[in-house]
Amino acid sequence: MSLDEILTDAAREFAAVTSLPVLDQVKARYLGKSGAVTALMKGLGALPVEARKQQGARINEVKEQVETLLKARREALQREALERQLAAESIDVTLPGRGDAPGGLHPVTRTLARIERLFASIGFAVADGPEIETDFHNFTALNIPQNHPARAMHDTFYLAGDGATDGGRLLRTHTSPVQVRYMQQTRPPIRIIAPGRVYRCDSDVTHTPMFHQVEGLWVDETVSFADLKGVLAEFMARFFERDNLAVRFRPSFFPFTEPSAEMDIACVICGGDGCRVCSHTGWLEVLGCGMVHPNVFGHVGIDAERYQGFAFGLGVERLAMLRYGVDDLRLFFENDMRFLRQFA
Ligand code: DAH
Repeated sequence: MSLDEILTDAAREFAAVTSLPVLDQVKARYLGKSGAVTALMKGLGALPVEARKQQGARINEVKEQVETLLKARREALQREALERQLAAESIDVTLPGRGDAPGGLHPVTRTLARIERLFASIGFAVADGPEIETDFHNFTALNIPQNHPARAMHDTFYLAGDGATDGGRLLRTHTSPVQVRYMQQTRPPIRIIAPGRVYRCDSDVTHTPMFHQVEGLWVDETVSFADLKGVLAEFMARFFERDNLAVRFRPSFFPFTEPSAEMDIACVICGGDGCRVCSHTGWLEVLGCGMVHPNVFGHVGIDAERYQGFAFGLGVERLAMLRYGVDDLRLFFENDMRFLRQFA
């Protein structure tokens, strides 16, 4: 191949190439180890000195020209690629924006607000207390003495320490200690609910280590078990929007109430016929309750001869699940937007 031929061929071939990888292949044909220019260089050795000089200089010239052509073509191809990419990725700034998505309240928050609203309408104030509690408020004052088996049921998260230096503190296992705190500060009549987070060493399909309870307490001179039944039956009927919601009270045990009861409502899913949710009994257990134990009044300095009252404690997630038909407790805490959006 003559030098002229090399130059015109390279110019033509480079121009025909439309992609960078192919350009490199074509380049090799001229400037590579066995390329046309390299082949001519190798032939130089056979020429006499003068001719070699001249020919060598010409080959170099052509080589430089080929390199210039190559560089120009490479830059052109890079520019084209960039322009193609910019065109493909361009954004249409005239499109309407996505807008601000309105936020929504978490279903547990909505349920708490609903419970508070209903109790407020019958004269209950809202009280609260610390989530890190003392052993005294969480257990002792509630008539759950040291070594009482009820403490085992409440296996919880204790703060590191020897009990002497930290005062035996723990994450509260129920909202009942708010009863104690409130009665230590306020004389009857007392009519409060205490909503809030509680903690237990529990984790499975129906238990999470943190959940919410609402405690209730009504103390006055003549508050009776009949008042307990009336208030709680009315609350459940309104919470579930059922006019004639059947309820029943089963005898139970809590150290801080006597007598104690477990309250059931007719299954709000099947209406009492029996289904999976009520384990085919037609009834749903919704809370624990009872008349405040005289020993609790004793711990807070309220005269148990003069005053009496009732207390109850309910699980907020449980009521939310029943009201919204949610069948897995953990959904409340996974923060899956597809789940949460349904309540917004
Ligand atoms: N504190 C109890 C618990 O977490 C619930 C409870 C039962 C609270 C009966 C009460 C009550 O006030 O009277 O299991």
